[in-house]
Amino acid sequence: MAGAAPSGFNKRKKKLSVKCEAAAASNQIGVNQMLVYVPPHPLIKHWVSVLRNEFSPPPIFKSAMAELGRLLIYEASRDWLETIGGEVQTPCGVANVEFIDPREPVKVVPILRAGLVLVEHVSSVLPATQTYHLGFVRNEVTLQPTLYLNKLPDRFPDSSLILVADPMLATGGTIVAAIEELTSRGADVKNLRVVAAVAAPPALKILSEKFPGLRVYTGTIDPGLNEKGYIVPGLGDAGDRSFGT
Ligand code: URA
Repeated sequence: MAGAAPSGFNKRKKKLSVKCEAAAASNQIGVNQMLVYVPPHPLIKHWVSVLRNEFSPPPIFKSAMAELGRLLIYEASRDWLETIGGEVQTPCGVANVEFIDPREPVKVVPILRAGLVLVEHVSSVLPATQTYHLGFVRNEVTLQPTLYLNKLPDRFPDSSLILVADPMLATGGTIVAAIEELTSRGADVKNLRVVAAVAAPPALKILSEKFPGLRVYTGTIDPGLNEKGYIVPGLGDAGDRSFGT
């Protein structure tokens, strides 16, 4: 039917849209010295909406998460990556060019499980990467994270650029534990960027207190958490919805 909303979507109520626009329009929200970016891009809004829809089945959810990640990584890399100058021979002459130094790959740290999905398309954005996996499981009662997989190097080379992917910044427990693992291995918070699908105030507050200089790129900021530590309205369990469990 022409003009009908796709399955599971109702037409937005004016009140809600005003609230979303307010978060996005500010684009850059300073929390102490930490910067939180909600890139005001229509595609980012679209993929966040697909993720939120409880009727999006796992394959659609997963590809929306991967696509959102690609866009957020693009935004996060905008004023971050440096190019080096050179020359190339084109079919018609010699051109001055700028390119990303393949000798300095961005260290990508997905937090399992759902972080893997958020960085699925990272190589289509960043020409040179190395990926180091971190696995945390959250105790459903205490909400405390436990590290069960750590593939980080003993030491990061000085001034490494590090991109951490954690789709749901809820209580902040997991992302704080992850960043502490990174800084204990020589990572500099100033060179670290976090990408997330949804962020909530408790996580943003603790990140800003613990890691001044950090930058967070998120699809949206939601008002709060429920008693189980899930973001509300959020999108549910990002890992379960991605993998159909
Ligand atoms: N992890 C999730 O997957 N969803 C939430 O809402 C919070 C933490």
